[in-house]
Amino acid sequence: MADLNETARALVAPGKGILAADESTGTIKKRFDSIGIESTEENRRAYRNMLFTTEGAADHISGVILYDETIRQSTSDGTPFPKYLEQQGIVPGIKVDLGAKPLALAPEETITEGLDGLRERLEEYHGLGARFAKWRAVITIGKDIPSEYCLWTNAHALARYAALCQEAGLVPIVEPEVLMDGDHTIERSYEVTSRTLFAVFTELRDQRVAYEDMLLKPNMVLSGYDGSEQASDQQIAELTLKCFRRHVPAAVPGIVFLSGGQSDENATARLNAMNAMGPHPWEISFSYGRALQAPALKAWAGESGNVGAGQEAYLHRAKMNGLARSGSYSPDMEEKVAA
Ligand code: 13P
Repeated sequence: MADLNETARALVAPGKGILAADESTGTIKKRFDSIGIESTEENRRAYRNMLFTTEGAADHISGVILYDETIRQSTSDGTPFPKYLEQQGIVPGIKVDLGAKPLALAPEETITEGLDGLRERLEEYHGLGARFAKWRAVITIGKDIPSEYCLWTNAHALARYAALCQEAGLVPIVEPEVLMDGDHTIERSYEVTSRTLFAVFTELRDQRVAYEDMLLKPNMVLSGYDGSEQASDQQIAELTLKCFRRHVPAAVPGIVFLSGGQSDENATARLNAMNAMGPHPWEISFSYGRALQAPALKAWAGESGNVGAGQEAYLHRAKMNGLARSGSYSPDMEEKVAA
């Protein structure tokens, strides 16, 4: 069986991070709707093909998270995506949760489903080439929520998933996402993210998950989108690091942030600010979906003639985030490349 710690460390190698391209069929439809493209299986394949075959991406991208449909698809010349990525030196991964569903007797809160039959599904995905997996729990901040009930049931499910992954020879990416929707302050985000991480690491320990053989994919500690006061990048970096230092064991090889709807450049600048304050007990990296893909999706717009422009836009974001891994990014690099 592959050394899980080795895979986990490869995923957070210096200068590199993860591309989350695991949008479910429903989510990718939403993204395609925003640029007026029909969400057919072939369009979804063509779009992922554009991203995955970008030359030079492997200099900044260590792994790609795929979706159930995508892991079974192939490049335009017929190489299965997982095999193609592996040939580029990029580790293929797979989203295995089945989405956040209403949590019984808890209005406005969700529980992530997908544990039934997971052992067999993991075995199949491993056979298809996946070497790591992802499960996302969703925590909403609102009046009187999240409840402890929501935090602990989601943490319990995350740990059950993580233990099954390690048993199956896959590195689990444990993703408890505290949403930034709402008008809450950054202090409230700090408090809820702290409670969430406390529950998650308690369950991981109780369920015998090896911290060395996993990665954490959390939200940054941020002001709510609709909050009247928006914290500065420096404040975000400081509170996020304070929160994680208190809750994430140093044995975890890396923290790979999600972008969660931040603008591309904000997601990069904040990652950069955190790394500029290093060294840290863990690698601090990215596992971005929207913040890596948004400009590429726009440039592509569903036209095969725009593939070059889409790849250029994706490569640029990958490069900027790669630089943010060592605190070497600065916003003026954006203009230079765009010009
Ligand atoms: P975003 O970076 O767009 O939040 O997506 C990351 C992800 O994988 C969410 O589950």
